[in-house]
Amino acid sequence: MNSGANISGSIRRRLTLQLLGIAAVLAALLFVMVMTYAKQVAEESQDNILSASATSILDSAAIQSGEVTVDIPYSALSMLGNVSDDRVFYRVVVNGKYLTGYESLPIAKASKGQDSHRFITSHYLGESIRMVSATRRLSNASGPVEVTVSVAQTLKRQRETLERISANAAYLGFGFFIAAAVLGILTAQSAVRPVQTLANSVSKRGPQDLRTVQAPVPGEMAPLVVALNRFMARLKKSLTRSEEFIAEAAHRIRTPLAVLRTQAEIALRRVERPENRAALKEMIRAIDESSRAAGQLLDHAMVSFRTDHLEVKDINLLDLAEETLERLRPLAEMQDKTLSSHGEETTLISGDAILIQNALSNILDNAIKYAPQGEDVQVVVTSEDNWVVLSVYDQGPGFAPEDIDQLTERFSRGKNAEDTVGSGLGLTIAEEVTQAHGGHLKLSNRTNVRGACVSFYFPQS
Ligand SMILES: Nc1ncnc2c1ncn2[C@@H]1O[C@H](COP(=O)(O)OP(=O)(O)OP(=O)(O)O)[C@@H](O)[C@H]1O
Ligand SMILES: [Mg+2]
Repeated sequence: MNSGANISGSIRRRLTLQLLGIAAVLAALLFVMVMTYAKQVAEESQDNILSASATSILDSAAIQSGEVTVDIPYSALSMLGNVSDDRVFYRVVVNGKYLTGYESLPIAKASKGQDSHRFITSHYLGESIRMVSATRRLSNASGPVEVTVSVAQTLKRQRETLERISANAAYLGFGFFIAAAVLGILTAQSAVRPVQTLANSVSKRGPQDLRTVQAPVPGEMAPLVVALNRFMARLKKSLTRSEEFIAEAAHRIRTPLAVLRTQAEIALRRVERPENRAALKEMIRAIDESSRAAGQLLDHAMVSFRTDHLEVKDINLLDLAEETLERLRPLAEMQDKTLSSHGEETTLISGDAILIQNALSNILDNAIKYAPQGEDVQVVVTSEDNWVVLSVYDQGPGFAPEDIDQLTERFSRGKNAEDTVGSGLGLTIAEEVTQAHGGHLKLSNRTNVRGACVSFYFPQS
């Protein structure tokens, strides 16, 4: 199907790859967004608990007998412990001096969030921690006192949770990618389907079918279809013009040829010298060849024209065969041949009677011409599957097997035709007529007896 086309890439493949690329980028974006959001939520919830813990420790700070006391409430640390298995550290500093807790625990200086609560992520005792530092001012007799509490919690559980969410987000991203990829492939397929439909409808046409494309197509394809239709219209016009020219030329040649033949015959009667008679006979044969060729060219042009505008009606093939035989009987009787027909009376096909008669005449003409010793030519109408088959049997030498495949080509004649007048167009006409009716022509030799068999296969109506 692609032979003869200079193919560079494929729209469908390009579209599919682009859609797959977009799906991959969106899936990665989805993954990153889910992870960023999950991390933010996990951090915020841990920060809130750390903040509540630091506030409750600060609330317990009091001044007793001029000294700052901090009575760490159980709930301050248990609320962190309850949430996870992570380790919890704290430290209380009063006016910059260590009071209780883990002495080496750092203080968060960088501030984030509220002024009084400063959060940092850091390392302590070999583990990653999240820490909050908060300050409260008290006053005693000697002046203001600044109590700073730091509460830290390791990040083990938070990391585990994020890992779990990350696995789920990866599955989600992958699922999204697969769904988007399938939709992308389907979209790419449906985008190029109109092109395939158009190509199929054009390539299914027969060689004579130059009708414009009428099937609806998407707007983007309109320029292509318009160009194709214009091209077919131009092609049809130029084919018609050349057929008309051939028909006109053949017509103009036929009349002078007829005059010439009459003159040559008159001359033949008068001439006595054998070499002159031989030359005149040669001339008459050449004139016969030319007239036959001109007649067949005219018929062929008529067939080509009519196959474009078939005048279809229901035809009883057996009746049509009998009519044709009737016209050819005088010619057959001159050669002592009988023409007969039989078969299914009721079989109808829809077709152009003039064309089918012309095709059958050509086959009968061959049967009479190429079967000189044969006495009987039979036309038989049968049904086979969905076909109505009209076969012409003769009792001649049959087709030469080495010629049989080429005989339907234009101007192709067999080896047995050397002494017979003809132009090599009869079988071409018969085949074109059959194909214009949606059928085919089959040439064969009879199996048990001598003779050729030519069968027309027409679709049943
Ligand atoms: N019934 C037949 N028996 C044997 N050979 C045949 C028969 N019919 C056709 N042929 C062979 O097929 C060839 C092609 O036939 P076709 O009818 O196309 O051309 P033609 O008879 O030579 O010329 P014309 O155009 O005048 O009919 C013939 O030249 C002949 O060799
Ligand atoms: Mg013929």
